[in-house]
Amino acid sequence: MSGVKLRGCGHCVPARVVTNDDLARRMDTSDAWISSRTGIRSRHICGEETQAQLCTEAARMALERAGVRPEEIGVCLVATMTPESLMPSTACALQKALGLAQDTVCFDMNAACTGFVYALHTAECLLAASPRRFALVVGGDAMSRIVDWSDRSTCILFGDGAGAAVVEYRPEWPSVGAVLGCDGDSELLYAAGPGSGKTPRIAMEGTRVFKFAVETVSRCIAQVLARTGTAQEDVRWFVLHQANARIIDLAARRCGIGADRLYVNLSQYGNTSAASIPLALSEMQEKGLLHSGDRMVLVGFGGGLTWGGALLDMA
Ligand code: ACO
Repeated sequence: MSGVKLRGCGHCVPARVVTNDDLARRMDTSDAWISSRTGIRSRHICGEETQAQLCTEAARMALERAGVRPEEIGVCLVATMTPESLMPSTACALQKALGLAQDTVCFDMNAACTGFVYALHTAECLLAASPRRFALVVGGDAMSRIVDWSDRSTCILFGDGAGAAVVEYRPEWPSVGAVLGCDGDSELLYAAGPGSGKTPRIAMEGTRVFKFAVETVSRCIAQVLARTGTAQEDVRWFVLHQANARIIDLAARRCGIGADRLYVNLSQYGNTSAASIPLALSEMQEKGLLHSGDRMVLVGFGGGLTWGGALLDMA
């Protein structure tokens, strides 16, 4: 088996902070309702910043923390559903901005909020066929551009941001053992694209997505542990998609995971979609919470419906 480990992470969020009280001045909601139902207290919202700029800064920080030079990168993937341009992709913008070699494999992928886990698995597969050892795996979304600001039950959930990870591949390392899936039959979460003739706006059946999320996260954790032959007590951190604190609490309780092994930062950022997992990883590295050899289970879920889990070790 061959696989990747984490070398370093970075993140970038827009300067503007929008609190629950700020939202309550614009719509019929309150800090008490939002924080008790979701755990979210504020989010960062793009002003002048673009999704590509957030991704570039996150990637720059990840390269620096990893101690990896741009020319050592063989694969650059950006998970997003909110790029400014459909073409060139955000990954191509990163190639230029960071000075990645021209033979770097660069493309964007869309698996909604599961995007980072899908991209991590894809990077591992591509590095196995690459002459270089390192990949940049980025998740970046400007969700504020596609939320329906007239729908108080969804717009309060989301925020903008980007997170990036530099991973290293070695033939002797184990695979991240990704468990990925999709149910394309579901209409619980939807955002129209440019070809539809409609304005792209997120629509969601929140209560049903909530149930799907709790079940999916619990199942993915069990599957990742089984696939990689890992005992739950050997996992230092469970980094779950930061959508709603109640989803994380319920799933963790079902799996018997204590709060000391969960990293939760959604109170400041809300749901940043594909950015949520690498943004959490980056903060963890910043706070000195990640040490060589630490094992982490990552689980994402979101539109598609899609889901994915993986076991990522700190190099
Ligand atoms: N402020 C005040 N009241 C509100 C608000 C709000 N912002 N939003 C809804 N309400 C009201 C509703 O109108 C309803 O009122 P009613 O009882 O008079 O009809 C009441 O609050 C309860 O509404 P519910 O939708 O039943 O509230 P629920 O407890 O289910 O919480 C929430 C809603 C927070 C959206 C929850 O269902 C949730 O978190 N779902 C999961 C969403 C998610 O995590 N998505 C992740 C994937 S996103 C992606 O991948 C792109």
